[in-house]
Amino acid sequence: MSRKVLVTGGAGYIGSHTCLELLKAGDEVVVVDNLCNSSEESLRRVDDLAGRGVEFHRVDLCDAGELEAVFEAHDFDAVVHFAGLKAVGESCEMPLRYYENNLTGTIELLQAMDRHECRDLVFSSSATVYGDPDSVPIAETAALHTTNPYGRTKYFIEEMMRDLCLADDRWRCLLLRYFNPIGAHESGRIGEDPQGIPNNLMPYVMQTAVGLRDEVVVFGDDYDTPDGTGVRDYIHVVDLALGHLAALDHLPDARGCAAINLGTGQGYSVLEMIAAAEKAAGRKIAYRIGPRRPGDIATCYADASLAASKLGWKAERGLEEMCADAWRWQSANPKGYSK
Ligand code: NAD
Ligand code: WQD
Repeated sequence: MSRKVLVTGGAGYIGSHTCLELLKAGDEVVVVDNLCNSSEESLRRVDDLAGRGVEFHRVDLCDAGELEAVFEAHDFDAVVHFAGLKAVGESCEMPLRYYENNLTGTIELLQAMDRHECRDLVFSSSATVYGDPDSVPIAETAALHTTNPYGRTKYFIEEMMRDLCLADDRWRCLLLRYFNPIGAHESGRIGEDPQGIPNNLMPYVMQTAVGLRDEVVVFGDDYDTPDGTGVRDYIHVVDLALGHLAALDHLPDARGCAAINLGTGQGYSVLEMIAAAEKAAGRKIAYRIGPRRPGDIATCYADASLAASKLGWKAERGLEEMCADAWRWQSANPKGYSK
């Protein structure tokens, strides 16, 4: 049955891929995004790929009046909430900007949902809520310790949603804790378009492969891992997008609040990622070993079994496909969505 879904932050990296999958599944999609870290071009391409469109509103979630107007014009079945700022380093420099944008934006959204009696929500949380885990793979029951303001915004929002579900059993919230999303849609037409110097490994590696950057700096090779470089659970963004559809399908049977990991359960090191990217791009990628990045951990990968049992979802796309799709996007759009 088709749904009407509000997608906040739908013009962004994960949001745009999710909008495409929702359209392909026959859902009606309304996007609110203030475009602070994205461009409307992503949604134009989503419309092209799907053969039908999303309805877009350039709205800041913190603007209660504009958000209210969107809710007045529609009767949503559910909300997928991606909108937020996400750069860890920047969050340490400007914590108030992160707390204001991510927390106030979410509070305004939840209040509008409550007023309009739409209480089904899928939220973009992050494996960052686990901080430096005591052991891997990381299950949802692991202790939460955040290590930076960005991570704390995710943790506080999770707590807010748990409180809301305790106070009113009409709310159903699925808190999806993503591991490391990479890759792009197989068409190469939508993908990750970081502003400025990428913070994350794979966009940096791909920009180096395409000649925009000279070399990758590997942040430390003295970790307690097989090759000394950091190990992460990289997940294809299309698998991640499909995880949101599985979550939306599950919502009517959900009770209260539940946190669910979206990862593959498999870890790869930085050097393995560079080697896989070289293979996909068919060229050498220059790199050198540099110092550790403050705040980084050695190893992080998911116990992905709860998503399988609860949502009937698991990641299907392997490392080769992630790198091939990332390269297709990067080589066709060396400067992202801007010409
Ligand atoms: P993104 O920056 O590409 O997308 C976020 C979108 O939200 C952007 O289009 C931005 O313009 C919009 N936005 C931000 N603040 C807004 C506001 N106040 N009002 C309206 N729109 C606003 O990021 P992404 O990688 O697609 O991430 C989506 C969500 O997933 C974020 O909440 C992020 O924290 C979370 N997440 C991302 C990763 C990752 O590595 N990419 C990992 C874990 C969790
Ligand atoms: C991956 C690995 C680095 C860049 C971050 C956030 C997390 C989540 C996902 C939102 C690490 C190494 C990186 C580089 C490198 N985002 N690296 N050279 O740090 O696992 O997670 O993004 O929720 O909250 O913290 O991802 O891609 O930055 O790093 O060697 O130029 O690559 O040390 O081992 P991370 P990442």
